[in-house]
Amino acid sequence: MLSPIANEIAHVRRQLQGASPEGVLSWAAQRFAPALGLAASFSVEDSVLIDAASAPGLTVFAIDTGRLPEETYLVAEEWRRRGVTVRWFFPQREAVERLANEKGPFSFRWSLADRHACCAIRKVEPLGRALQGLAAWVTGLRREQSVTRASLDIVEVDEAHGGLVKLNPLAAWSAAQVWARIRERALPYSALHDKGYPSIGCAPCTRAVPSGEHPRAGRWWWESPEHKECGLHVCPVGSSEPQPRS
Ligand code: ADX
Ligand code: SF4
Repeated sequence: MLSPIANEIAHVRRQLQGASPEGVLSWAAQRFAPALGLAASFSVEDSVLIDAASAPGLTVFAIDTGRLPEETYLVAEEWRRRGVTVRWFFPQREAVERLANEKGPFSFRWSLADRHACCAIRKVEPLGRALQGLAAWVTGLRREQSVTRASLDIVEVDEAHGGLVKLNPLAAWSAAQVWARIRERALPYSALHDKGYPSIGCAPCTRAVPSGEHPRAGRWWWESPEHKECGLHVCPVGSSEPQPRS
């Protein structure tokens, strides 16, 4: 039997089919604010969502992994200048120090387990804290982005994070739609996009891709597509990967 929230979400999912990001965010604000958070990596998708989220009671939060490119901070700064308050979360100092001292600054290239260990410390643990106290969170995920996201829904129950509601208002959007909105509304975007980076994460795990290649080909480019998630959007429980020591 479905839990009450899963039942509600199954119903709402039908209601929100085809809704605009503004429509999805306005439903979410009415239902969950002030316990509603928007996770921003300052991607173009996130800029569309920050712009669309006019409702009060939504907190924009960002995880500073310590390895973000300068250009990402400049997008964040532009949003701050436009009046958006961003709540930043950082990894635990002791865990980062242990990682760096034991393995050096590039251990994520050694193996998938080492890459997951770095993401666990720098992204997943802070995300857990960012989500504390929230009833729902919003992401810029889109189906088109990868094989791991192909069955994404606009609204889901996020079992990996204790049954929180997860909203992906751009799930069905194409990259062209996102870029059309960025241009139309003159929204901030990373200067790296104009240098051949379609998708941007941490600096050492992101590179430019030749045109015509898959947009996420430059993310963790040494790994195969089905591994290209960092744990923010998949459940690490049950993974055979060793978990980092904390
Ligand atoms: S990742 O898992 O591969 O790094 P991706 O870069 O595609 O994720 O971003 C997808 C969505 O995850 C973003 O639109 C944003 O909602 C969220 N996200 C990713 N990285 C961060 C971050 N550093 N801080 C906050 N949210 C993030
Ligand atoms: Fe570490 Fe790379 Fe993951 Fe960033 S994307 S947390 S640098 S492994």
